[in-house]
Amino acid sequence: MSNDDNQHDFPDEAHALKGSSDHLHIDPLEKKWIYVALGLIGVFVATILYTAFAKHVHPPGEMETIDSARLHLSEEFAEDNLGVVTQADGSVKVTLVAARYGFYPREIRIPAGQPITFRIASADVLHGIHVPMTNMATMVVPGYVSTVTTTFPKPGEYPMLCNEYCGMGHDHMWSKVTVVSRESWQAGNTQTQGR
Ligand code: CUA
Repeated sequence: MSNDDNQHDFPDEAHALKGSSDHLHIDPLEKKWIYVALGLIGVFVATILYTAFAKHVHPPGEMETIDSARLHLSEEFAEDNLGVVTQADGSVKVTLVAARYGFYPREIRIPAGQPITFRIASADVLHGIHVPMTNMATMVVPGYVSTVTTTFPKPGEYPMLCNEYCGMGHDHMWSKVTVVSRESWQAGNTQTQGR
């Protein structure tokens, strides 16, 4: 070791590294993996943007609280007010209560091809709503109202499943969603006023 080295207190190897870092030497293999990592980050960000803007997948917007133990006393989630309602402006609103072990009412009928707003509250524990093959999915956290607006493109019968473990009956917690074409929805509406 030279005097110089001792003064700066660098071991030989560190000294060599310092010299090479002047023009930032990166191993070619390392460089390749940096590009792979950056590329992956790019893919993830693109996926988030694509699902948000093209597929309309959003986290719940506003936070709304409710007393889960007193749903039956609330106006909106009282038993008589649950179900599908066509509002004055023609939009369709579905009010549901998730409770062990089902979504109430157990069967709903809604039109295809137009936005449906779901308002869901839990009467007991944490549940999750998932309608397979659609983008209808949300958590139903006790104490909060979950609001989701989505469109079902195709008529058909869909199961509405619980996808958060909520107890022994979790596997059996599901309800039925019947999506009808716009024409038969409008035809049915003139007779039944949207119920
Ligand atoms: Cu409700 Cu699982």
